[in-house]
Amino acid sequence: MRILVCKNYDEMSKKAAQIISSQVILKSDSILGLATGSTPIGMYKNLVDMYNKGEIDFSEVKTFNLDEYYQLPKDNIQSYYYFMHKNLFNHINIKKENINIPNGMNGDVEIECASYDEAIKNIGGVDIQVLGIGNNAHIGFNEPNDAFIKNTHLVDLKESTIEANSRFFDSIDDVPKKAVTMGIGSIFASKKIMLLASGECKAEAVYNTVYGDVTPQVPSSILKFHNDVILIIDEAAATKLNKEDYKLI
Ligand code: GLP
Repeated sequence: MRILVCKNYDEMSKKAAQIISSQVILKSDSILGLATGSTPIGMYKNLVDMYNKGEIDFSEVKTFNLDEYYQLPKDNIQSYYYFMHKNLFNHINIKKENINIPNGMNGDVEIECASYDEAIKNIGGVDIQVLGIGNNAHIGFNEPNDAFIKNTHLVDLKESTIEANSRFFDSIDDVPKKAVTMGIGSIFASKKIMLLASGECKAEAVYNTVYGDVTPQVPSSILKFHNDVILIIDEAAATKLNKEDYKLI
């Protein structure tokens, strides 16, 4: 696990966008695994700027998003479908048919989950998966649990996640209680993983990811078992790490 620590959120966002852009320059038909949440917004902004300057072309790129709320329509401004279009897809030349986001409205959620994993497998796997991290160390919506769940699945959100995400909704009662998320196996099928974290509220989750035992109670801890993971975090998120374990950039 390589750890790069950037001065602040803006620097982290720039670095993350540079890594995605290098991936797309090296392989124009890259498969990107994308994440939502407030953390990657700056990265998406940088990617849009790079696109506007003609530095990056998304015409052959395909994307798979990590997760989506269950039973929240696409046009709800809190849906991850809406988020991705607002922050990235509406501003770049990606083809509509190359965008994949779990459909939380599918009446048959089991079929939805199985076909999502199948689609990732058929395409040969994701080249680089972007991850944020929850305060409770969830990745995607893989919540602390008694076991790691391999495949894309329907999950009951933890109270702490509902509370954390309620900041985006009018009231906590509006936050969906369930979501569809790629499982740990689906995430691990990615060739590279880039986890972003910003702010002191993530420092403990980052500490547990780096130094803690691998346990489903700390979902991100499993990342130690993947052979190509890079953490791009800011100084605030790195406050609990030993200085010799990361590179300050
Ligand atoms: C959400 C998303 C995750 C995200 C996490 C952290 O619940 N499902 O993919 O990483 O919360 O969000 P934020 O970046 O806003 O702290």
